Amino acid sequence: MGHGHSFQKQAHLRQGFWRLAVLGCVLALITRSSICIGQTLREAADKAGILFGTAVRPSHFDEKRYASVLAREFNMVEPEDAFKWRALRPDRRSYDFRAGDEVVRFAQQHQIKIRGHCLVWGRDNPDWLVRGNFSSRQLSRLLHDHISRVMKHYAGQVFAWDVVNEALDEKGKPRDSIWYNQPGIGFAAKGTAYIEQAFRWARKADPQALLFYNEAEGEDLGRKSDAVYAMVKDFKQRGVPIDGVGLQMHIPSVDVDIDAETAAISANIARLSAIGVQVHITELDVSVPVDSSGMASAGDLQKQADFYRGVVRACLQNRGCSAIQTWGFTDKYSWIRSHSRGTRGDALLFDREYEPKPSYKAVLQELSAGRVSRYANSVHSPN
Ligand code: XIL
Repeated sequence: MGHGHSFQKQAHLRQGFWRLAVLGCVLALITRSSICIGQTLREAADKAGILFGTAVRPSHFDEKRYASVLAREFNMVEPEDAFKWRALRPDRRSYDFRAGDEVVRFAQQHQIKIRGHCLVWGRDNPDWLVRGNFSSRQLSRLLHDHISRVMKHYAGQVFAWDVVNEALDEKGKPRDSIWYNQPGIGFAAKGTAYIEQAFRWARKADPQALLFYNEAEGEDLGRKSDAVYAMVKDFKQRGVPIDGVGLQMHIPSVDVDIDAETAAISANIARLSAIGVQVHITELDVSVPVDSSGMASAGDLQKQADFYRGVVRACLQNRGCSAIQTWGFTDKYSWIRSHSRGTRGDALLFDREYEPKPSYKAVLQELSAGRVSRYANSVHSPN
């Protein structure tokens, strides 16, 4: 039997699935039951009153399946790289907004919200900047100019920005970087003062945009998340303009106690919400080991689904958690394979053929269950 044949058969099966799904929805409507298997992530997220997004690369927009799944399943997007310094700044004097503008165009065509990432980061900076031997004064002007130009260019289009990304190390101390102390913008050895300066510039540049601090590996409870919490609390108390914390959530292993891990994530979200900032889960992916041909085991894909479920639940349990975003949506284009030198992969909700995985179904179920029932539980809980 040739490939063509099995392809046709698959297409046939898929068609059958969607027909059944639509029928299921109609029946669900008639009987007022809440189970509707034809629902998309986007529809479920809209109903739950939450943003569900993905990182995107505009170079794939002309791929039909990429574009159609994206428009169908997500109500938020964030350029994976197109808003970074390396992409926006070909040289010291110019700005190249073309790739970023493509994302904006796609999003507007499909009524999708746009999140911005990122204005200040020690990585993904262009060589002319990193090797330019600029003085602190020059760097300060360069950064101020960058934040103002980029935020003004996208004002009214980008509703939230990761102003500063990954500024703290695993001990919770400011990381060495061109912006902090190499040579920095004038606040070297002054703790989080340079971060504060970036937020102040950002608020001036676009007073409407929500301003986020985005961090990696500080999702659960520990030294790093304690440091993020302390910094944000200090900022809030002193009136430094900050609206939210982004928890990246690149999960590197599923061989952990998933319930305990996601409970700690929920507790961290709760304490951040309690100081009056929103939380966005910004770069969620759950990678699993893959063999030399790139295949993951079925058991791991099931654990992966459980992890996704736990993270979505942790967000929905907390009113302050207003967006969940995955770092890409198809395993065809995830950054994990190259990042892990081929040892891990298959980290996302759709496989390389754009078919939904167990992780997709888990997320859809959790989103469909919505927030209300969870609040009710916490309100009526006897203790
Ligand atoms: C990654 C992108 O996915 C890659 O395409 C790029 O080559 C390197 O950066 N934390 C972040 C993201 O904040 O910007 C990173 O994105 C992944 C880790």
